[in-house]
Amino acid sequence: MPFSSLKDKISNKKYSVSFGEVVKINATVITARGLKVSISDIVKIISNDTAQETIGMVTEIDGSTFFITPFSFVEGFCSGDRVFLDQTGLNIPVGSSLLGRVVDPFMRPIDGKGAVNGSKLMPIIKAPIAAMKRGMIDEIFSVGVKSIDGLLTCGKGQKLGIFAGSGVGKSTLMGMIVRGSDAPIKVVALIGERGREVPEFIEKNLGGNLENTVIIVATSDDSPLMRKYGAFAAMSVAEFFKDQGLDVLFIMDSVTRFAMAQREIGLALGEPPTSKGYPPSSLTLLPQLMERAGKEDGKGSITAFFTVLIEGDDMSDPIADQSRSILDGHIVLSRELTDFGIYPPVHILNSASRVINDIISEEHLKAVLKFRRLYTILKEN
Ligand SMILES: Nc1ncnc2c1ncn2[C@@H]1O[C@H](COP(=O)(O)OP(=O)(O)OP(=O)(O)O)[C@@H](O)[C@H]1O
Ligand SMILES: [Mg+2]
Repeated sequence: MPFSSLKDKISNKKYSVSFGEVVKINATVITARGLKVSISDIVKIISNDTAQETIGMVTEIDGSTFFITPFSFVEGFCSGDRVFLDQTGLNIPVGSSLLGRVVDPFMRPIDGKGAVNGSKLMPIIKAPIAAMKRGMIDEIFSVGVKSIDGLLTCGKGQKLGIFAGSGVGKSTLMGMIVRGSDAPIKVVALIGERGREVPEFIEKNLGGNLENTVIIVATSDDSPLMRKYGAFAAMSVAEFFKDQGLDVLFIMDSVTRFAMAQREIGLALGEPPTSKGYPPSSLTLLPQLMERAGKEDGKGSITAFFTVLIEGDDMSDPIADQSRSILDGHIVLSRELTDFGIYPPVHILNSASRVINDIISEEHLKAVLKFRRLYTILKEN
């Protein structure tokens, strides 16, 4: 083989030629040395005995030793296994072929309908839209749910939270919004749900209709890193369509499970637990994801809905609190209304859309205020 083509072949290789070595493994962290890495580098670990592979991320470095959080489970790996650096980093292939499909965070199909061929590599981690490039929220985004469209009207590019205790109807409302909205592209992230809930959500809540929809799934039995980056990967998919000038609906169930994934990762790396055991990184992660939604000048918009579980219906939960401070609106579901058989159980008085005054007509606003006033009087008496 001529020297030049040999050189090309080597430079085309995704993985480093040099490799490091695993020195210690536990269920959540792999310790290795012998390779020059930086924080957030993606590495591939190959077992010497079985040739099985796994991907992980460098999350801590201590002298010549570095710590890897694996994307999958680590059964079968042992000390002495080789560690290679992946030079492409954390990118996923995205494209219009994703529409109608159910995929994992690396865009690998899990619906058994064959390969998905992404046309563009998108980074999973990206900076939010720059403040001066954010477009004003001045257009109505219809979700097709009367109580929300009427009294809590949402705008294109708005970020909202759906807050409720367990089993009150978050997932059902999410399904209603996906079905009811007329957004040209819908991206659904199912993060940390039980595996059983995924087909149930598609069949029951979406009626099996995946037209113009991409579903990204990381279930509760996936590793915490998969759950964490599953949410970011889904946001990258939404950004791909937003960059083409489209108005995208992004909906994620649930932020709580996403924060819990970071809790597992943070605690395993020795971060101190704070309120409810969440390490500080769980809270700083939320704006990194949520701020990527919005409207961008000259491009399209991402209107985002995030469900937040409130344990024991306690609104002072740290994740609920932090989410509320980042989002521009909250829809609170009430267990009391479900007792009366009122569905979707939207608690109008506790909910608010922060952009409603800018997007609805004067007449509509008057009607909203009148309804709130009469409803409050009714409740008080
Ligand atoms: N809009 C609705 N119409 C009729 N029934 C509903 C509606 N919303 C919720 N329910 C009832 O409440 C049950 C629980 O709803 P759902 O699974 O959406 O709750 P959830 O808040 O997502 O629960 P979890 O916390 O377990 O994720 C449903 O199985 C259904 O019986
Ligand atoms: Mg649910």
